[in-house]
Amino acid sequence: MTAMLDAAERLSRADLEALQLERLRTTLRHAYENVPFYRAAFDGAGLRPEDCRTLADLARFPFTAKADLRDNYPFGMFAVPEADVRRIHASSGTTGRPTVVGYTERDLDTWADVVARSIRAAGGRPGHKVHVAYGYGLFTGGLGAHYGAERLGCTVIPASGGMTARQVQLIQDFRPAIIMITPSYMLTLLDEFERQGVDPRTTSLKVGIFGAEPWTEAMRREIEDRFAIDAVDIYGLSEVIGPGVAQECVETKDGLHIWEDHFYPEVVDPFTGEVLPDGEEGELVFTSLTKEAMPVIRYRTRDLTRLLPGTARNFRRMEKVTGRSDDMVILRGVNLFPTQIEEIVLRTPAVAPHFQLRLTRQGRLDALTVRAEARADATAADREKAALAIAAAVKDGVGVSVGVEIVDPESLERSVGKIRRIVDLREPGTG
Ligand code: DLL
Repeated sequence: MTAMLDAAERLSRADLEALQLERLRTTLRHAYENVPFYRAAFDGAGLRPEDCRTLADLARFPFTAKADLRDNYPFGMFAVPEADVRRIHASSGTTGRPTVVGYTERDLDTWADVVARSIRAAGGRPGHKVHVAYGYGLFTGGLGAHYGAERLGCTVIPASGGMTARQVQLIQDFRPAIIMITPSYMLTLLDEFERQGVDPRTTSLKVGIFGAEPWTEAMRREIEDRFAIDAVDIYGLSEVIGPGVAQECVETKDGLHIWEDHFYPEVVDPFTGEVLPDGEEGELVFTSLTKEAMPVIRYRTRDLTRLLPGTARNFRRMEKVTGRSDDMVILRGVNLFPTQIEEIVLRTPAVAPHFQLRLTRQGRLDALTVRAEARADATAADREKAALAIAAAVKDGVGVSVGVEIVDPESLERSVGKIRRIVDLREPGTG
């Protein structure tokens, strides 16, 4: 097993931290010298790159937010001449300008390496066929997975997202061992396998590498059971590189090892910005350690998780992401994440793993309705029981009352990529 790990995966913590500090200092200097935004930010805080003498000193440096990237649209955050940028990706964003990211030749090389390492940690080996159903294009999922799988020596099937019936046929005919896909789209494939009369447990698939959206242990059990595969988590975000920032190891399935030789994590209090000790939940913040085209310093991901010690690797782990702070619903003073509802819906008999959260306003208060789909064989009495069970579980587990509607099978919109769980009907016309 050890022989398959690359050199960085075998570093001791002490050697890793020495490497991180050296790379961090180089990155701070690179950002300061080449990106006016970082120069102004460091100057404003009275700091020079050399003031970072230990890893803990990083906490003195200012944060970078998504808004800073938008303000510098399109190429203002680049630290190299435009001609040295070999690839551009962008995240659509729901409103306003997209967030643009760039990669040099070496950045693309690093990216392929970390995704290859991720696929290997998930159980992938040279020669395996990898079906990539993340979308190809400006989104980093498809191309990120693609070049990583090639780097590992796998055979890539670049299916991209959509055309679900064809995805099923390709899986049947090409017999991939691995699929890379969002968990919500995997559920869409599940329905399609069943529609075509193919038992999803009989496919060639052995491992699914799922990411790009939050998903729960309950969803892992559902997917593993329905497809007879191992389901592991991959995390990343375009601003930091794309998929391949952190990966769960198939042998432990205990959270995601962060590839700390390239990405330095911190968890901070989302309100005060104070760095929290490992083990405490807060907002994940990343500093890139090797990126050339677009270094990021203390980038606020808005993803909530906590840092844990390494297990299958020396790198620290992050717990499965609870959710994004943007997706947190505050109902009568109680915080609620879609993942909490996912856990409940998935353990409720007679409902399918498809649900949606509708936010409305009743008077001056926000109200939430969970819409979950009945399973095809559910009777009216089953539905009634399921609605009561979900409402009671949310009341007990989350501490707030919500409405529950059990809707007909196949009536909720299906995902073809990242699913939108929350439908906000509070402002007319924006839902
Ligand atoms: O979603 C990159 C990616 C592609 C990751 C494919 C994994 C697989 P963005 O479009 O920039 O990049 O969105 C990044 O997606 O900040 C999280 O909120 C969410 N996210 C990504 N992976 C996970 C995960 C890609 N495993 C945003 N669990 C991040 C929970 C995830 N959330």
